[in-house]
Amino acid sequence: MKQIKGRVAVVTGAASGIGRGMAEAFAAAGMKVVLSDVREEALMETVAAVAKLGEVRGIAADVSRAEDVQNLADRTLEAFGAVHVLCNNAGVASSKSLLWESSLEEWRWHLDVMVMGVVHGIRSFVPVMLAQCDEGHVVNTASMGGLITGSDSQAIYMTAKHGVVALSEALQDQLAQQGERVRSSVLCPGFVASEVFDNFETLKPDAVRSPTRTKEGQQIVDLEKKLLAAGKTAREAGEIVLQAIRDERFYVLTHPDWAYMVEGRMRAIVDGADPARPIPPIGEVFG
Ligand SMILES: NC(=O)c1ccc[n+]([C@@H]2O[C@H](COP(=O)([O-])OP(=O)(O)OC[C@H]3O[C@@H](n4cnc5c(N)ncnc54)[C@H](O)[C@@H]3O)[C@@H](O)[C@H]2O)c1
Repeated sequence: MKQIKGRVAVVTGAASGIGRGMAEAFAAAGMKVVLSDVREEALMETVAAVAKLGEVRGIAADVSRAEDVQNLADRTLEAFGAVHVLCNNAGVASSKSLLWESSLEEWRWHLDVMVMGVVHGIRSFVPVMLAQCDEGHVVNTASMGGLITGSDSQAIYMTAKHGVVALSEALQDQLAQQGERVRSSVLCPGFVASEVFDNFETLKPDAVRSPTRTKEGQQIVDLEKKLLAAGKTAREAGEIVLQAIRDERFYVLTHPDWAYMVEGRMRAIVDGADPARPIPPIGEVFG
């Protein structure tokens, strides 16, 4: 997108973490920003803070509900009359269950929020963006976990995020084939400081088991919390996304030096080997 200032952006999952970082980067660049989240109180606190940077609104929505996302689109148009950037970013942490022990509720919750949430965003916003006959950009938040596999503790999460990568690639291709001026990106963060583990506990349906229910699970979550906290800041991730929108870049990695893990996966496929088990550079994070 060539013109950024004055454009309208919508960010889901914006009450904290990467979504908030994007909202801050966009507002500071002169965009009008609609922040949305299912946690209404936290959302309004964040909206009040981001309002210091620019013109913002807060509209609560549960992205797993198509009617909420349609309402978000309708109210965005009422407020600002257009929408140029949509960031389908809302997501939850992994429940870390073994596949054969995972309840259907766990599956449905993860897929409803992280895959159907993106689907709902595309269905409610892309037709509006196309009808504007103007520049536009859709950013879907996947994960490095959407480009690699092999972490047995994140199987459902990775299944969802691979879905987000696949549908984002298809979206970009379909828009290009139709000669549209709306483009797409898929954001694949590495470690970015956020509140995702605490939010998991707040948001999970009762039927979804907490990964911290066992001592081993608690240790894994404690380590992951440290890794995220030592990673990029959410604002840095937001600035990376803003630059990718300006550059019209499709694959957006917050940690481009992690791409060797994608190569490892592809090499296993080409070689007919078993799935690779890529390890992020954890040692580097702790120096
Ligand atoms: N932080 C990382 O290192 C990292 C790495 C890879 C991918 N991601 C992805 O980045 C995105 C943002 O996560 P984050 O790490 O900033 O975590 P976060 O918990 O700080 O932010 C996610 C936000 O999404 C909201 N949310 C959850 N379910 C929702 C729903 N049904 N409807 C609307 N909002 C909902 C939460 O309330 C929260 O505010 C997620 O999609 C996550 O999977 C994060």
